[in-house]
Amino acid sequence: MKLHQLNISAYYSMYLQVIILFSSSYLWSQFAIPTNALGSEGDGLALLEFKRGIVSDPFGVLRSWNDSTDFCNWKGVTCSRRHKRVTVLSLYEHNLQGSISPHIGNLSFLKLIDLSNNSFSGEIPKEVGQLFRLQYFYLTNNTLTGEIPAQLSNCSELREIDFARNRLAGRIPSELGYFAKLELFQLGANNLTGRVPTSIGNLSSLVHFSVPYNNLEGNIPKEIGHLKSLSILAVAANKFSGELPSSLYNLSSITIISTASNHFNGTLPANIGLTLPNLEWLAISSNELSGPIPISLSNASKLQAVVLSTNNFVGAVPRDLGKLVDLWWLGFGSNYLGSNSSDDLNFLTSLKNISQLQILDFGGNQFGGVLPASIANLSTTLTKLFLGGNQISGFVPTILEKYTNLRVLDMARNLFTGVIPSSFGMLQNVQGMDLRKNKLFGEIPSSFGNLTQLIELYLSENMFNGSIPSSIGNCKYLQYLDISQNNLTGAIPKEVTDLSSLSLLLNLSYNSLSGNLPVEVGNLKNINALDVSENNLVGEIPTTIGDCKSLEYLNLQGNSFQGVIPSSLASLKGLSHLDLSHNKLSGNIPKDLQTLPFLVYFNASFNELEGEVPTKGVFRNASSISVMENSKLCGGIPELQLPACTTARATKHGLSHSLKLAIIISCVVLVLLTLASFLALYSKRNSKKKPSPMLSTKDLEPGHLPKVSYKMLYEGTAGFSLDNLVGSGSFGSVYRGILGQDERVVAIKVIHLQQSGASKSFMSECMALRNIRHRNLVKIITSCSSLDYQGNEFKALVFEFIANSSLEEWLHVDGENSSRNLNFLQRLSVAIDVASALQYLHFECEPPVIHCDLKPSNILLDNDMVAHVGDFGLARILSTTNGIPRSQTSTIGLKGSIGYAAPGRSLPFFLIFFLELLKILSIYPRKHTIQKAHKNLFCFFF
Ligand SMILES: *[C@@H]1O[C@H](CO)[C@@H](O)[C@H](O)[C@H]1NC(C)=O
Ligand SMILES: *[C@@H]1O[C@H](CO)[C@@H](O)[C@H](O)[C@H]1NC(C)=O
Ligand SMILES: *[C@@H]1O[C@H](CO)[C@@H](O)[C@H](O)[C@H]1NC(C)=O
Ligand SMILES: *[C@@H]1O[C@H](CO)[C@@H](O)[C@H](O)[C@H]1NC(C)=O
Ligand SMILES: *[C@@H]1O[C@H](CO)[C@@H](O)[C@H](O)[C@H]1NC(C)=O
Repeated sequence: MKLHQLNISAYYSMYLQVIILFSSSYLWSQFAIPTNALGSEGDGLALLEFKRGIVSDPFGVLRSWNDSTDFCNWKGVTCSRRHKRVTVLSLYEHNLQGSISPHIGNLSFLKLIDLSNNSFSGEIPKEVGQLFRLQYFYLTNNTLTGEIPAQLSNCSELREIDFARNRLAGRIPSELGYFAKLELFQLGANNLTGRVPTSIGNLSSLVHFSVPYNNLEGNIPKEIGHLKSLSILAVAANKFSGELPSSLYNLSSITIISTASNHFNGTLPANIGLTLPNLEWLAISSNELSGPIPISLSNASKLQAVVLSTNNFVGAVPRDLGKLVDLWWLGFGSNYLGSNSSDDLNFLTSLKNISQLQILDFGGNQFGGVLPASIANLSTTLTKLFLGGNQISGFVPTILEKYTNLRVLDMARNLFTGVIPSSFGMLQNVQGMDLRKNKLFGEIPSSFGNLTQLIELYLSENMFNGSIPSSIGNCKYLQYLDISQNNLTGAIPKEVTDLSSLSLLLNLSYNSLSGNLPVEVGNLKNINALDVSENNLVGEIPTTIGDCKSLEYLNLQGNSFQGVIPSSLASLKGLSHLDLSHNKLSGNIPKDLQTLPFLVYFNASFNELEGEVPTKGVFRNASSISVMENSKLCGGIPELQLPACTTARATKHGLSHSLKLAIIISCVVLVLLTLASFLALYSKRNSKKKPSPMLSTKDLEPGHLPKVSYKMLYEGTAGFSLDNLVGSGSFGSVYRGILGQDERVVAIKVIHLQQSGASKSFMSECMALRNIRHRNLVKIITSCSSLDYQGNEFKALVFEFIANSSLEEWLHVDGENSSRNLNFLQRLSVAIDVASALQYLHFECEPPVIHCDLKPSNILLDNDMVAHVGDFGLARILSTTNGIPRSQTSTIGLKGSIGYAAPGRSLPFFLIFFLELLKILSIYPRKHTIQKAHKNLFCFFF
């Protein structure tokens, strides 16, 4: 487990830079009126053609584009006064959908096109090359594909090009050099490949060159040094390599250098601070840069952000960085700075002059010595302080209490000693605190209960003694608590096991804790990993452990637990690792443990267990289990070499089993016969599919993923890039991503937590999806609840990726795209799938789950055209005890055994619902949503 949020500077820097660079302002103001006259009636026609290319205009901005008014008065259109020719086409942020008509090329007087923040798709028409008066061309934030047309180079008047955040591919055209007047060139967040053409050196007016988040490679051409007006060079998050051209450092106009996350190598020139006096941002983290940090940097007095993290810099940190009074971010973590000597940290002294410092990162280097007293003189604006992973010794300074704005404090992996000052309770905004792997001792201050914003707390691998303060129970947002490997004694406070916010980890292992495991452990309903191993715990394992429905990792090893293994463990459907070894457990191994689909590790060795070892599930594989040193166990697979169990019991068992089976079969046959006529409805599909849903074997495959971190999701989606955005709703955005070593393609739903209700929606989706599995429901793989690289709360759900988009897109086809039409059989099949899913949710889950947001856009079709119902953000879990449905937050499980359904009520529901769906799907595919039918029927049946 590691603190991904705290080691973030590289990504954070990159991300922030990009945000800053994208929000560039528009520079145009007033335009000269053209003097040459050409016919104007063609402009109206061309505009109407442009309108025809737009298939969706939800705000009706193009309603005014009709014959009753002069086209010069149409919304978004501006004409030259004298010639009545269109000079401005400005339609940004209107949610327009469609393509850009090639007829735009007829509007030959155009000076400005702004179609930003819409959903234009298709290619940029090459006819734009006819717009030789064009000066400002903005297509930012659409979904345009194809290449940048080389014909654009005819538009020699262009001053600003912003095509950022589209899906443009191919190379940056080498004809680029023709734009003698170009000042702004933004192509960030596309799929561009290849090199930056050397012709960039001809863009003699260029001020802003920004191409982050592409797949560009090669060097930055040295010709960039010809650009005497260049102010912003933003090339972060590409595959660039080589050294930055030395000519770059002679451009005194430069204000921003942003090259993070590439493969640049080489050193920074010693005089960089002198040759670049206007530099405001030097953000070059996550490269392969080496050599010392130039002392001259402190002469670049306009610097606001210096982010050198994750490179190979060596040597000392310049002593007078404090001259950079505008600095708010100083990051040089994860390098090879310092020499483990006592004056390594002297650079801190001068930082007292920086009044707005927010982020200071010098973690992950070789700094030695003690924290100098000057650590007390930093600005109280500090929000993030990273100094973990050095060799800093001495006491934890009490004075840190003054930094009450701190959100992240990382002092881990150093040689700090002494006690944690109880005044740390003043750090009331802290969300992540990492003090692990030091030599701290004494009690964990009970004032930690004051840190009510804490999300992650790491105190492991120290020498803390005393007991765990029960006040930790006040940290209601705590998700991750690791106090392992200390000398803690006393009982586990029930306040800690009561913290239902704990969702990632509770690790109390390798201490000397005594007493029972509190029954309140069942309140850890969201916990993923629980480790209390190697303590002195006694008593029985509370059966409430079966309520920790999210558990995947449970380690109770090395205690003195007695009694039986609670059979409730078998209700932990996601459990993959269970270690009960080295205790005093007796009784049988619960047979149901063999039904746990994901269990891959089971260790019950060194106990006093008896009876039969199961042979299915995890027990099938000798290398996944250990049951040694339990003298009275028998049976199991032969590899275990246990004595055979006495057969009498087994036979008796077998008999009663087959008797039961016979009764069940007769009942089923009877029911089937009665309903034969109905079942004929599905005869087409019957061989593949049963109307009664059950867990498909595919769902039970153990290739599931462990809990994922924000970092994994970030990397798997190329930083949540727009290229990977597949959809967006009010509560979340869905990205396509690739996870894990097996490069599994998944859909990642990132919850918009700022949206009110989104957090609740996340909870209900988690609740609803926790245990349900059905072939017609979108399968949840895992979830992530963590902090993002800005330290903001981040929640996401990871689903299997369904390839063929939503039913909505299949139903609402444009005329041209008729290959996407569903035929009758496919519609029928979709109807049956959706009905099966609902039948399952309503009648086989206990308590029932009501989707509440069923509509074609929430029904996804896979490659085999099998429908999967998704988006449980509004789902309700019902308690129907007295017939009155009631919203409830309790967890759900399967009612009875898998596949069981009360036939009395569900079958008519199923049939009527199915027929209703069928009607809708085949007769009114465009007008009605399934939701209506669903709601009506739902009311009818409850
Ligand atoms: C645009 O110009 C082309 C020829 O350059 C012509 O064929 C086309 O009809 C024109 N479109 C409109 C709408 O006038
Ligand atoms: C045509 O545009 C005018 C505004 O310019 C608007 O009032 C009118 O409703 C529009 N006509 C149609 C048929 O949309
Ligand atoms: C992209 O455009 C949409 C629609 O106007 C807008 O909501 C969104 O904020 C824009 N995104 C960015 C990053 O500009
Ligand atoms: C596009 O949307 C972003 C984010 O909402 C906004 O900052 C930007 O100003 C918008 N641009 C235009 C041209 O509407
Ligand atoms: C806890 O917080 C309160 C304010 O809510 C503060 O007055 C008190 O000093 C804090 N306690 C400690 C030990 O820091």
